[in-house]
Amino acid sequence: MEYSMLTVVGSQWGDEGKGKITDFLAEQADVIVRYQGGPNAGHTVVVGEEIFKLHHLPSGILYPGKTCLLGNGMVLDPVILQSELENLKERGVFPDKLFISDRAHLIMPYHKKLDELEEKARSGRQIGTTGRGIGPAYVDKISRQGLRSGDLQNEKELIKKLDFILRQKNEIFTRFYGERGFSLEDLEKEYLPAARKLLPYITDTSVLLAEEIEGGSRILFEGAQGTMLDIDFGTYPYVTSSNPVSGGVCIGAGVAPYRAGTILGITKAYTTRVGEGPFPTELKDQIGDMLREKGREYGTTTGRPRRIGWLDGVALRYACRINGFHYLAITLFDVLSGLKTIKIATAYRYGDRLLEHFPASLHILEKCDPVYMELEGWEEDISEVKELHALPIQARNYIRTIEELLKVKVALVSVGPRRDQTIVLTNNFK
Ligand code: GDP
Ligand code: IMO
Ligand code: MG
Repeated sequence: MEYSMLTVVGSQWGDEGKGKITDFLAEQADVIVRYQGGPNAGHTVVVGEEIFKLHHLPSGILYPGKTCLLGNGMVLDPVILQSELENLKERGVFPDKLFISDRAHLIMPYHKKLDELEEKARSGRQIGTTGRGIGPAYVDKISRQGLRSGDLQNEKELIKKLDFILRQKNEIFTRFYGERGFSLEDLEKEYLPAARKLLPYITDTSVLLAEEIEGGSRILFEGAQGTMLDIDFGTYPYVTSSNPVSGGVCIGAGVAPYRAGTILGITKAYTTRVGEGPFPTELKDQIGDMLREKGREYGTTTGRPRRIGWLDGVALRYACRINGFHYLAITLFDVLSGLKTIKIATAYRYGDRLLEHFPASLHILEKCDPVYMELEGWEEDISEVKELHALPIQARNYIRTIEELLKVKVALVSVGPRRDQTIVLTNNFK
């Protein structure tokens, strides 16, 4: 694969197979960068017989010698990140060129507790968060009372800041929620030791990145979550608290907008969503159950069953526009084998209107019925197919239909979780 800068973005509601595709592309990369999100992400990478589940670490980490950066746009849980690193070391993976932005925000134990309490308080209108403290950590970042990984470099000051923050947080816990708060001593004992272990990795990653770019390194940016979970462009309020879209790269990694390079949208051959919120093409029937089992659609981070639906051309058209995808990668294509008919939503019917653009308002979205086109399915197992021409004609027709509908070329087709289960249609992303 030829590229100098490439960005991998989820085009649906997450879990599109970004981990698999990033790992596949990372062979050619010098630097792999995560630019947003935190341990709400669960990226699965299969190498031979081994399955790796990554939450903070970029999916390029499994190749030796690659520089891996956790950008300033991320929120980090030192305890989870530490266990991720330990787990890798036990399996013989030694991340010797890992760097963490000193501007990335820290997820604190009180963020996790707030995440849990806020979800409970939304009774009946839960978002279905991953419970990892993501929303409350980003809230503190925006309200300018977050703690950043760079604060770990001056522990005395950090303790002072924490003391101040805890007073306010504990008011919320005790007065509003009627719960116990957190003591400074407990946090010092239970949280700081894990956080301290991150110190050797903490640096100004944007300086490193600029030097790498200057030196001609190949850079791969790995998004987490997906466009429809974006805080600005997703199905608000059923979204995450960061910007997974391609525009998030410059903010979350500290590079100029044009450095995002070629933008590759990752889309499943159907749609899934985990957590609550609108899902126009959702299937609540046997076909949905069949796809869930065949695609092993259970959350990487939380183990929750994923909701399943047909491919949503309206949401994808929107994702193409917002992200400016140059190419698409279609994943989990093998899962569709065995269906007589496959549907793709091409528009939404809203009352007597036909919508081609994804609406912002939930009250509109909730009343939208997808308008489907139907395509003929195929019986054959395609999971070992290596070339486009070896796919059944109906499968090739499905790919062509997506390209025509979205006016974007498909560059990669993934037919299984392994690296060698990837059909390459475009070799050159430059
Ligand atoms: P991510 O969050 O976007 O990285 O995706 P996840 O890792 O959460 O979920 C994708 C799941 O599908 C993982 O279990 C992958 O191993 C698996 N996977 C990825 N690509 C394919 C594919 O082409 N076919 C099949 N059957 N599984 C795939
Ligand atoms: P990857 O990177 C799928 C969903 C949660 C919930 C909403 C908000 O593996 O694709 P949060 O904990 O972020 O506040 O939860 O977003 N969500 C994801 N769904 N894949 C993810 O990440 C997700 N990260 C968050 O289920 O609906
Ligand atoms: Mg995932």
